[in-house]
Amino acid sequence: MIVMTKDTMQIVREQDVVPFRNRVREMCTKIGMSLVNQTKLITAASELVRNMLKYANGGKVVLETISKNAQAGIRLVFVDEGPGIADIHQAMRDGFSTGKSLGLGLPGAKRLVNEFDIKSATGEGTTVTIIHWKNGR
Ligand SMILES: Nc1ncnc2c1ncn2[C@@H]1O[C@H](COP(=O)(O)OP(=O)(O)OP(=O)(O)O)[C@@H](O)[C@H]1O
Ligand SMILES: [Mg+2]
Repeated sequence: MIVMTKDTMQIVREQDVVPFRNRVREMCTKIGMSLVNQTKLITAASELVRNMLKYANGGKVVLETISKNAQAGIRLVFVDEGPGIADIHQAMRDGFSTGKSLGLGLPGAKRLVNEFDIKSATGEGTTVTIIHWKNGR
């Protein structure tokens, strides 16, 4: 896999979400991703930044344009140093929430994108990586 462009955005307050979404959309447009795939990626990304703000008081996102086997895509890495997630398996289940919310953010985001990886350690933080390909499903 080749990283073509790399960029980092700090997400520390609610007002950082719209510029972040705009930046992702701009990157999608640049590689010619279909509108349907753009919407899937941006919806997933929005859930992940909202979690970062809600549970970890913010963090950063690394935004990359990547290429693999002549296919272009976008990789987003959400990094926070919040409390972490004790039980990832539980957090990934539909309807699980510690925030009295719907609990669909993480499992929903996973369903929307082509690749999804989550790593977390309690007391250290959480890192979620998603990849969506230009011509993915
Ligand atoms: N970045 C994070 N740091 C710490 N805990 C997190 C983080 N992201 C998610 N969690 C934990 O995982 C649970 C499930 O997250 P998910 O996004 O699926 O649901 P939710 O945020 O509770 O509800 P919804 O996203 O539907 O409003 C959260 O309730 C929270 O306990
Ligand atoms: Mg959520």
